[in-house]
Amino acid sequence: MKFDIERVREASPGRRIDWLDSTESTMQDAWAAALCDAASGSLAGAEQQTAGQGRHGRNWHSAAGEGLYFTLILRVNVDPVELPVLTIALGLAVAEAVRVHSGLVCDLKWPNDLLINGKKVCGILSEFQDGVILAGIGLNVNQTAFPEELATIASSLRMEAGGEFSREALLLGLLEEVDKHVALLESQGKKPLLDLFTHGSSYVRGKRVEVEQSGRMIRGVTDGLSDFGFLFVRQTDGERVLILAGGLKAI
Ligand code: BTN
Repeated sequence: MKFDIERVREASPGRRIDWLDSTESTMQDAWAAALCDAASGSLAGAEQQTAGQGRHGRNWHSAAGEGLYFTLILRVNVDPVELPVLTIALGLAVAEAVRVHSGLVCDLKWPNDLLINGKKVCGILSEFQDGVILAGIGLNVNQTAFPEELATIASSLRMEAGGEFSREALLLGLLEEVDKHVALLESQGKKPLLDLFTHGSSYVRGKRVEVEQSGRMIRGVTDGLSDFGFLFVRQTDGERVLILAGGLKAI
């Protein structure tokens, strides 16, 4: 399906939307726009990325015309200690947009991977530079297959629902939900978002996980979120460790 970015621009006037057929990574494009004073809510996206970036230095598979690959520029009025909760809020926003537009319910793997039937359909890369938050969102929409190395861990909305989706409608829904969730954080603080995440994620409590942190392998059962949006893991020896960054593996 040909993507019609003009439809998105018309439905979301006043928002700067840079959209390319192909780019290395929208993270760099958004950063360039931010340096030229692009307002909060502006975004840089592309039909294809040739060097899409994932977390932990990984690649983000960005096949042409199948997914949504874009980076939002956010200039948000929140305390820096609330940034981990903003990261959580972005995952909640995408999950809500996916639910509204496809009926599919995503699980949220802390801090903000979206999973359906245990497979990843969306990843979010948040960077904070000079007061600007760059929120890079990769949503697998209409892929029908993935390269062999991803086949057992990745999926798309189309593969899960058995039908194609309008990427324009999803993008518009997603922008609306990000606006709503950021406004909730600005107006009511962290608590409502932490509650929503705790409710919507099977990873917050009682999940057996392992994760490497500061060169140490932590293994145990998840035990709730801290007030700042980090994740507690209770190890078998009883020690409760606070996990500061993603990379969890369910075991
Ligand atoms: C993850 O590893 O889970 C995060 C993946 C983030 C991918 C998106 S696609 C749009 C933006 N541009 C990039 O190069 N990465 C992010």
